[in-house]
Amino acid sequence: MEDGRARGKTVLVLHGPNLNLLGRREPDVYGALTLDQIDDRLRALAGELGVEIEIVQTNREGELVDRIQQAAGTAHAIVINPAAYTHTSVAIRDAILAVGLPVVEVHLSNIHGREEFRHRSLISDVAVGQITGFGVDSYLLGLRAAVRVIADARRRSLKTRRPQKARRPA
Ligand code: DQA
Repeated sequence: MEDGRARGKTVLVLHGPNLNLLGRREPDVYGALTLDQIDDRLRALAGELGVEIEIVQTNREGELVDRIQQAAGTAHAIVINPAAYTHTSVAIRDAILAVGLPVVEVHLSNIHGREEFRHRSLISDVAVGQITGFGVDSYLLGLRAAVRVIADARRRSLKTRRPQKARRPA
């Protein structure tokens, strides 16, 4: 899928805590790919879709908040795997609400099929949607979804800005 309306727009991808350990962290749950390998696939897909991509991993909640705030001036959508902060972070939720950018929440594992405490996400109702349980494909689907959301928003803003043709009287 390529959508010209999103061409040149920027998607910020945020990876939360412990995702730097992918590849050797519980591979039966999170898969064998390293974070670099996931990022390579994201960059390749971004190239195909014609969007710019910025990727950040941090173990710190405050840095995720800072990056979300900064994205207000630099990105058009965010794909985020908040990892363990999904289940605890009012600060990340509030940052998403504050900037008003479209956010796609992604998880490698299916958080709804795991321990009870992972079933709740403080992000999901302020995100455009959640993609969970598809391994690396959760990120790739998340990027596609973000590009689609950017294109749809652009289509809507072009429609409202375009001067309406004068209607001939019937
Ligand atoms: C995760 C799921 C979270 O519950 C967990 O804390 C993670 C990774 C996932 O991608 O499946 O660190 O977000």
